Amino acid sequence: MMPLLALVIACRPAVESAAPADPASPAPTTPPVTTPPEAPIGSPSSAEDLDPADGSVSYALTAAPGTWASGGVLVDGYAYDGQVPGPTLRARVGDTVTVTLTNTLPDPTTIHWHGVSVPWAMDGATWMDDPVAPGATFTYTFVAERAGTFWYHPHFDTERQVDLGLYGMFVVEDPTDPPVAALELVLDTVASADAPAGGHGGAASGWTVNSAAQGGRAEVTTGPARVRLVNTSNDGYAALVGPLRVIGADQGLAAAIVEEPLLVLAPGDRAELELLATTTLTLTPYSVDGGAAWGEPTPLITVEVPSSEPAAWAVSGAAPSLDPGLTDVTYTLQGSGDVWLINGEIWPDVTIERLPLGASAVIEVRNLSAANHPFHLHGHAFEVLSVDGVAPTSRRIEDTLDVAIRQTVRLLLVADNPGEWMAHCHILPHAHDGMMTVLAIEEG
Ligand code: C2O
Ligand code: CU
Ligand code: CU
Repeated sequence: MMPLLALVIACRPAVESAAPADPASPAPTTPPVTTPPEAPIGSPSSAEDLDPADGSVSYALTAAPGTWASGGVLVDGYAYDGQVPGPTLRARVGDTVTVTLTNTLPDPTTIHWHGVSVPWAMDGATWMDDPVAPGATFTYTFVAERAGTFWYHPHFDTERQVDLGLYGMFVVEDPTDPPVAALELVLDTVASADAPAGGHGGAASGWTVNSAAQGGRAEVTTGPARVRLVNTSNDGYAALVGPLRVIGADQGLAAAIVEEPLLVLAPGDRAELELLATTTLTLTPYSVDGGAAWGEPTPLITVEVPSSEPAAWAVSGAAPSLDPGLTDVTYTLQGSGDVWLINGEIWPDVTIERLPLGASAVIEVRNLSAANHPFHLHGHAFEVLSVDGVAPTSRRIEDTLDVAIRQTVRLLLVADNPGEWMAHCHILPHAHDGMMTVLAIEEG
């Protein structure tokens, strides 16, 4: 932490004098105001597995107030185990995962396992269940059924607590994957003086990688590199300039490996890249109000990788499912400013849609507003059937899907996890301002 703190002091005045964003006259995107570290950036440290037996992992996490540095800007915030990002929690597919949370915050909190199909009582969504009170502990337990890059964060006062620093990666490994060098990068937008951390207009204030200012470097000693990315920003879109070799998304390895010309990570999204040589991941300004934004591309991080051949990823090559042509649940997204609605309703005054357990259902999400919305469903993953009527070229499984302005997406859901699941926009200010509902999956 010490080198970062030195950096903090050097950089603070520049940050505090930055002009606040004025929604009436959007400021051009400015280059990052903080200085990246010279030492290579490593993956966040992993939590220690307290249960070394095969088939299970056990972790203890403490949420506590703490001061940390976001790209050199000091944040008087919250942290898991004193670090932001919180320690990476690891499991192997099929493991029973036990995590005991001790809450030493002045506020209630929870842990939500974003993208993981956990039993409803373990989901950390507090709308019908109590949060973990200050001073209390709670033990989460579930089976890690799918390999992939997930993340954990509170689901109580979510916008504020995530912003203050409560987030970390949850990696479920598949032991049959090629054993290549791994790098885990947690992206967030830089804290600003008026929003505690990574507040609105993230692209304008710059990005952090594992809390270091953008523009730094990382290295792996053998190629290729498997890079896992998660965008934990409350409302910033991380748009990475391609071509990038994308091997995975929200729910682990993709059905096909694609060279993407542009990889857009909406808030909550994950991706996995395979790097075959040294690569600078470059951000291009991207706005929640509709794609490309004003400004110049900026380096996010340079990853030094020895030149290498691709690994033999066991991608399925599966084709997308056929759209059955019927719609079971429709969500229309509307709103502007501080009012965001689903089907004309504002959380918590919402109509609960219901599906029978075991159903295969089509959800259609229509974005009628002038902002993008990353649609996220708890407890399940869904298949993308089409975006504006166009089916993907291979099977695409997600749990968070950006729905651009005026877009309509159709999703296939296998409703196999009973519970009353939250469905919401993962731009956390939008969720906070109403864009949240509940989808109940009910046993017959
Ligand atoms: Cu990241 Cu309701 O979730
Ligand atoms: Cu979630
Ligand atoms: Cu939204």
